[in-house]
Amino acid sequence: MTDSTETTSADAKQQDVTAWFDHTYETAGFEYLRPLAAYPIFLQLLEARAGAKHLDVACGPGLLLKASAMRGLKPSGLDVSRSALDIAEEYVPEASLHQGNAERLPFKDEEFDYITCVGAIERFFDRRAALQEMIRVARPDARLCFMVRNSATLTWLLWCKLLRQKNTTGHQDALDRDQWETLFKDVGLEVLSVYADQWPRQRLRRLLPGERARDLSTDEKIAEPLIPMRYVNEFIFILKKRGAESA
Ligand SMILES: C[S@@+](CC[C@H](N)C(=O)[O-])C[C@H]1O[C@@H](n2cnc3c(N)ncnc32)[C@H](O)[C@@H]1O
Repeated sequence: MTDSTETTSADAKQQDVTAWFDHTYETAGFEYLRPLAAYPIFLQLLEARAGAKHLDVACGPGLLLKASAMRGLKPSGLDVSRSALDIAEEYVPEASLHQGNAERLPFKDEEFDYITCVGAIERFFDRRAALQEMIRVARPDARLCFMVRNSATLTWLLWCKLLRQKNTTGHQDALDRDQWETLFKDVGLEVLSVYADQWPRQRLRRLLPGERARDLSTDEKIAEPLIPMRYVNEFIFILKKRGAESA
């Protein structure tokens, strides 16, 4: 009895979050997210090679999948939002798309060379289950890339904690760098490197002449943060399965 009640309430909460994302994509579409030019960096940091199998968990309308296809990878994406996937189907016809919860991935063991999850782990109700699923479907020598929100920022403290403006309907959460690292290590991952989110600098660079027309399949300069790393809004972690060979 207790178990089924808990399951029902967890499912109901997930349905609310999914409905929030469906509505967001139906009304804002791509406007809800960064432009395509902000996405190839995740593949660059992974040193992703053409021809490899790439899974983007919580892919939204497919911006990172598009960047992946442009670099010659074989992209697959999964998201809970049907509305996001409807957009992705048209935007990235090369991608294999799946509707589902990151906590239960519909893929075989050790299927993917690269796994990305951008701006979403903090939205999952059971992040450990989702991370364990990503580890399960990753090849032994796979590389993973996660962008996650930092709770140790002034914005998070003021906006979410003091002013209580946290987006609860979209189930927004955050951890600080140490807490993220501990979580990743606990589930069996090894952190290879940590970068600050590159979007603040990419956004500035886009003001330069010619930058908007940059070929998105070429590498770009990795920027150091303008503020101490521990205060950046989002971290990008590059990881591998613990015990896996270094590339
Ligand atoms: C902030 S958006 C990021 C989308 C995409 N990763 C990007 O950066 O363009 C968060 C995404 O997580 C998805 N999401 C939230 N909870 C999920 C879950 N439990 N399983 C799969 N996707 C989920 C939402 O539908 C949404 O598309």
